[in-house]
Amino acid sequence: MPDAPARLVVLVSGSGTNLQALIDACADPSYGAQIVAVGADRDGIRGLERAESASIPTFVARVGDFSSREHWDAALADKVAAFEPDLVVLAGFMKLVGPAFLERFGGRTVNTHPALSPSFPGMHGPRDALEYGVKITGATLFVVDAGVDTGAIVAQRAVPVEDDDDVASLHERIKVAERAMLVESVGRIAREGIRVDGRRVRFGS
Ligand code: GAR
Repeated sequence: MPDAPARLVVLVSGSGTNLQALIDACADPSYGAQIVAVGADRDGIRGLERAESASIPTFVARVGDFSSREHWDAALADKVAAFEPDLVVLAGFMKLVGPAFLERFGGRTVNTHPALSPSFPGMHGPRDALEYGVKITGATLFVVDAGVDTGAIVAQRAVPVEDDDDVASLHERIKVAERAMLVESVGRIAREGIRVDGRRVRFGS
């Protein structure tokens, strides 16, 4: 067991139910992690309110406030670095981080995606799975790399597609499994570490 809880910075863009699951898990000291900051790419979102309700420091980095995507990426990395995280968790963060961010946090940034990678990468995992007609989809936690949802896979959960699903009902079912996957996996990373060997990820140091 590490002496101190692992320091997490969580990045969000929306409702923040995955963030809330992590906030709730971190309330138990045996979980082994604490959220030291929550960042977002936009104002006025429920995810930031959830952090403020839990007295967690927040910050916002809007792409439109910077002269280029590269400047935004570097500024985001600076803001995250100020909180000295052991692990960065993208939990419904709807932006791709870039080279400056990965230079500093590559290998210790994970992202959760609402599909079973490598199927249906991108912004519309539940919609694309439904349109394709798969009977099983799910959620994937992966180590962020330079691609779109291409990183080495930490964990996955399978979720059935029901005949009467629409995108919202399917996404809600995925999110129940996704939150459980995220809480279990982030806790294990905090307590045990992970090793990334090519595309194979194992818990433990
Ligand atoms: C989650 O399902 C997450 O996987 C997805 O957004 C949702 C955020 O929910 N992210 C992506 O699609 C990123 N490609 P939340 O704000 O309630 O945690």
